[in-house]
Amino acid sequence: MKIGMLTSGGDCQSLNASMRGVAKTLYNNLKDVEIIGFHEGYKGLMYGEYHTMEPKDFSGILTQGGTIIGTSRQPFKLMGTPDANGMDKVEAMKKTYKKLGLECLVILGGNGTHKTANLLSEQGLNVVTLPKTIDNDIWGTDITFGFQSAVDIATSAIDCIHTTAASHGRVFIVEVMGHKVGWLTLHAGVAGGADIILLPEIPYDIDKVVKAIQKRTEEGKRFSILAVAEGAISKEDAALSKKELKKKRAKTQYPSISYEVGAEIEKRTGQEVRVTIPGHTQRGGGPCPYDRVISTRFGSAAAELILNKEYGYMVGMKNGEIVKVPLGEVAGKLKMVEPDSSFIHEIKNLGISFGD
Ligand code: F6P
Repeated sequence: MKIGMLTSGGDCQSLNASMRGVAKTLYNNLKDVEIIGFHEGYKGLMYGEYHTMEPKDFSGILTQGGTIIGTSRQPFKLMGTPDANGMDKVEAMKKTYKKLGLECLVILGGNGTHKTANLLSEQGLNVVTLPKTIDNDIWGTDITFGFQSAVDIATSAIDCIHTTAASHGRVFIVEVMGHKVGWLTLHAGVAGGADIILLPEIPYDIDKVVKAIQKRTEEGKRFSILAVAEGAISKEDAALSKKELKKKRAKTQYPSISYEVGAEIEKRTGQEVRVTIPGHTQRGGGPCPYDRVISTRFGSAAAELILNKEYGYMVGMKNGEIVKVPLGEVAGKLKMVEPDSSFIHEIKNLGISFGD
């Protein structure tokens, strides 16, 4: 049995651990299995760049960050656009698959990756996917691998900021990744004891943010820490159309939302503000033990789908149990933080402000 494997989109911790889980399960259950590793995601499948992987390639990688076969971003919206040489990308991927005589493709990726995986599945290829991303925004699964490791790193950043913020009596903003969703900021913000948490799903009112800081000052607190999602948005901006917002942002002097929020706070409170952006460190390094465990389970479950010849599914997790979710249900949806959820209610009850 010949299996193709690829990792696509932004990397994260635990990609290697997940591939190891798939490979070990296949090697353990099949006498004759060959795994082809495509280089740099869908690119390798398009251009026939790959190598045959050996069982030893999957040894010693449980704790290793990044991806041993490389990744790249191949936007779904450009899949229908021929490459610079006029090559049809989807046809090229199908051709490589058929030429190699693959039984199926194992695809590890996030939202964009799942749209293309679904497209390939609709085009008749056998596909099984695993949910990868620090953003935890894939529909159909409670958790994605990479997320918890990133929470740990973003939380450490907030922990470090705490001591310096307390020493200087400053307002600190830690900007957390997460693209269009706030899961990472919410978890790191709560775990790091942030005083104010700003998420894309809960547009903020800068007056309320300032009030929350002033309240702390009145209570004798010398510093305040804000965990701000890179996708956080003000109520005012959230009311704009996509086009209007794009136009407004093109004119802004600020490199990211945190600097805009910081400038407003400084102007209105007179307090000294600093912005810290851990950026891609949140995706770097090895996976935390929790991610190693779920990756091993996801990998094993994905391999089992292959053993049973059940294709067109993503493996996910619901209430601690592994589930298989049809790709057609996953593709094109985002799992967002629910502003009215009990999670948000519980955190608000502590007096933590979401600026709304
Ligand atoms: O999707 C993962 C992610 O790290 C997001 O949190 C972030 O917005 C984006 O990727 C950054 O992408 P890139 O690595 O291409 O700059």
